[in-house]
Amino acid sequence: MRRRYPTVESLRARARARVPRFAFAFVDGGANDEECAARNATALSSVELLPRYCIDTKDVSTEVELFGRTYAAPFGVAPMGSGGLIWPGAEEYLAAEAQARNVPYILATPANASIERIAKIAPDVFWFQLYRFPKDDHAITFDLVKRAGDAGAQVLVPTIDSAGKSKRPRDIRHGVKVPFKIGPKIFLQVARSPAWTLALRRHGLLRTENIVPYTEGRATTGSTAQTMQARASGSHTWDELARLRDRWKRAFVVKGVLHPEDAARLVKLGVDGMIVSNHGGRHFDGAPASIDMLPAIVAEVGARATVMIDSGFRSGLDVVRALALGAKAAFMGRPFLYGLGALGEGGARHVMDMMFDELRREFQHVGVRSVAEAATIPARHLRAWDLEAQKNT
Ligand SMILES: Cc1cc2nc3c(=O)[nH]c(=O)nc-3n(C[C@H](O)[C@H](O)[C@H](O)COP(=O)(O)O)c2cc1C
Repeated sequence: MRRRYPTVESLRARARARVPRFAFAFVDGGANDEECAARNATALSSVELLPRYCIDTKDVSTEVELFGRTYAAPFGVAPMGSGGLIWPGAEEYLAAEAQARNVPYILATPANASIERIAKIAPDVFWFQLYRFPKDDHAITFDLVKRAGDAGAQVLVPTIDSAGKSKRPRDIRHGVKVPFKIGPKIFLQVARSPAWTLALRRHGLLRTENIVPYTEGRATTGSTAQTMQARASGSHTWDELARLRDRWKRAFVVKGVLHPEDAARLVKLGVDGMIVSNHGGRHFDGAPASIDMLPAIVAEVGARATVMIDSGFRSGLDVVRALALGAKAAFMGRPFLYGLGALGEGGARHVMDMMFDELRREFQHVGVRSVAEAATIPARHLRAWDLEAQKNT
């Protein structure tokens, strides 16, 4: 496998050929013209790291401490809704692999597996991502928080960058709809993907499992997705975040931060950490690359909160770039789903193997032996945003 699929890009190409077109489009696509998604990649590859040599790097540790727990690597699985579309059972496979490898796994609110199920599969590494359900004074939101707490989620991760509904032209073109319906166009795509179809038959329905208790009547694939679509909306407001912070006694990490002043306000509100993110370019196409905002956010709050990042990370080298620029960890979304789409269940393990292997190699190349040392690597990042300087021009 290493020889046939040595990179995330090779897995992406294989997944594209193996899963129905609508499923690949849903995972791979971005908002509008997909410029933000492209910007993430360009920005990451433009960060240069200056290596130091003549250092004994035989013993490298990739361990990192996050919120009082030691994980095996400074990367993790980002939350992804409807992961089962690219490979039925995606959430279970990824959670099991994250638990086996001791890296964080963030379950998304609209995932195809429930909080309670994932807590059983990944009890030590399970974080829960939270969307906003404003109706009835946030009854569903608070019930999800209670369920995550009861199930033992280590970290609560409210996402704030989903203020509006996104427009993804590829989804529109390929017939991705909520609730999902198999019309003639989709039927043809499914018929051309026998391995995927078999996996779906083995797995059964792809419901938005966390929403099952909140549907009125029968909880079908359509009704759970529809309830999610109808009830979830907007960005958690400052007041709502304060209420959530009050209720949640364990680590509290806000995802989708781009502005350093929002980062500062979150610290005042009492968050433990944040994930600098533009949602992988899936929501707002005009957003800067998250890596381009990282230095300003680290300068603003890095001493007071754990700053992490995602969006566009595709290699161990990308993770080292983020560490050098002050992040404590980087999350990856699509790479894990490409792995599953390309290889089925074994894809989760393959992507983990690749990331651990690359991370160790890159540590050796730049001459560091730990995540703490990686934070000292000299990095040149000419595209980084500097809001102060921009104000004065
Ligand atoms: C298929 C898919 C579904 C996603 N669903 C969610 C979600 O439900 N909640 C959320 O906070 N982020 C969601 N995201 C965004 C990811 O958490 C993450 O920010 C993004 O994928 C990172 O970029 P990358 O895919 O380039 O690694 C989703 C991403 C993908 C690819």
